[in-house]
Amino acid sequence: MGTVPGSVPGTVPGSVPGSVPICRLCRLCRWTWWTADNKVSQADRDKWNARYREGAYAARTHPSALLAEWLPKLEFRETHPRAIDVGCGTGRNAIYLARRGWQVDAVDVSEVALDQLSETANAESLPITCIQADLEDAAHRPADLFTADRYDLAVMARYTNLPLIDKLKGALKAGGYLIVEEHLVTEADVVGPRSPQFRVAPGALRDTVAGLDIVAYREGIVNDPDGRCAALAQLVARKP
Ligand SMILES: C[S@@+](CC[C@H](N)C(=O)[O-])C[C@H]1O[C@@H](n2cnc3c(N)ncnc32)[C@H](O)[C@@H]1O
Repeated sequence: MGTVPGSVPGTVPGSVPGSVPICRLCRLCRWTWWTADNKVSQADRDKWNARYREGAYAARTHPSALLAEWLPKLEFRETHPRAIDVGCGTGRNAIYLARRGWQVDAVDVSEVALDQLSETANAESLPITCIQADLEDAAHRPADLFTADRYDLAVMARYTNLPLIDKLKGALKAGGYLIVEEHLVTEADVVGPRSPQFRVAPGALRDTVAGLDIVAYREGIVNDPDGRCAALAQLVARKP
C-alpha cells in the first residue's frame, strides 16, 4: 500500500516512529487512516486482501447478532462513547456502532477491507478511524493502540486472537464492556475456517477473561441472519 503525502492531525492513536497518518480517500476528512509504512505482516495482509478483492463477506453487512442483541441492554456512562473493533474487516460492527453515535477505532491488517469501510464511513460522515495494523505483531501496530482506560467497548468478532484479549481488557475503562464472538471447534457443517487453528476450543474464550465479570457466555450452533449456520463461542463481559 502506498502512503499518501500530507497528514491529517488529530484522531490518530498511533505513534510508531516513521508512521504516517493519512486519510487514503480524501486526505481532508477528520477520520484518519493510520499505517506503519507498509510494515504489517505481508503474508496475512496478502491473504486477506486477496479475499476481500474477491468479494469475501460482501453480503455480510448485518452486524453481529451478539452485538445487536446486547448493545441496547448495556449501560454506558459516556454520551459519546468510544469503541475499538479489532479484526474489523469491512466494518459491519464498526459501522453499526458509529451509526448509533459511537466513535470507533476500526483495526485490520487488510487495506482492501479498510478502503471499503472508509468509503461507507466517508459517505455517511461516520466517526470511524481506520487503523491498518498487524494485531499479531506489536511492532506493526500503533504503540498506544491499547492505552489503558481508553475504550467503553471492545469488539472482536470472528477474528481468532485470544492473546489479544489481555490487551483489550487493559484498554477498557472501568465499567466498559468486551463483546467477543469466535468460531468454535466443531464437527458440524458450518461457516468459517476449516482449520481448528482458527477456531477456539470449548471453554477457551471464557478462560481468557479472568478479572472481568461475565454478563453472558454461550457456545453452540447459531443461525446467522443470512440463513447460514455458525458454531460460535460468544461472550459479553464487563470490566469492574
Ligand atoms: C473473518 S474476518 C472478520 C471480520 C469482521 N470482524 C466481521 O465479523 O465481519 C477476520 C478479519 O481479521 C483480519 N485479520 C486477520 N489477521 C489479522 C492480523 N494479524 N491483524 C489484524 N487483522 C487481522 C482479517 O483481515 C479479516 O478482516
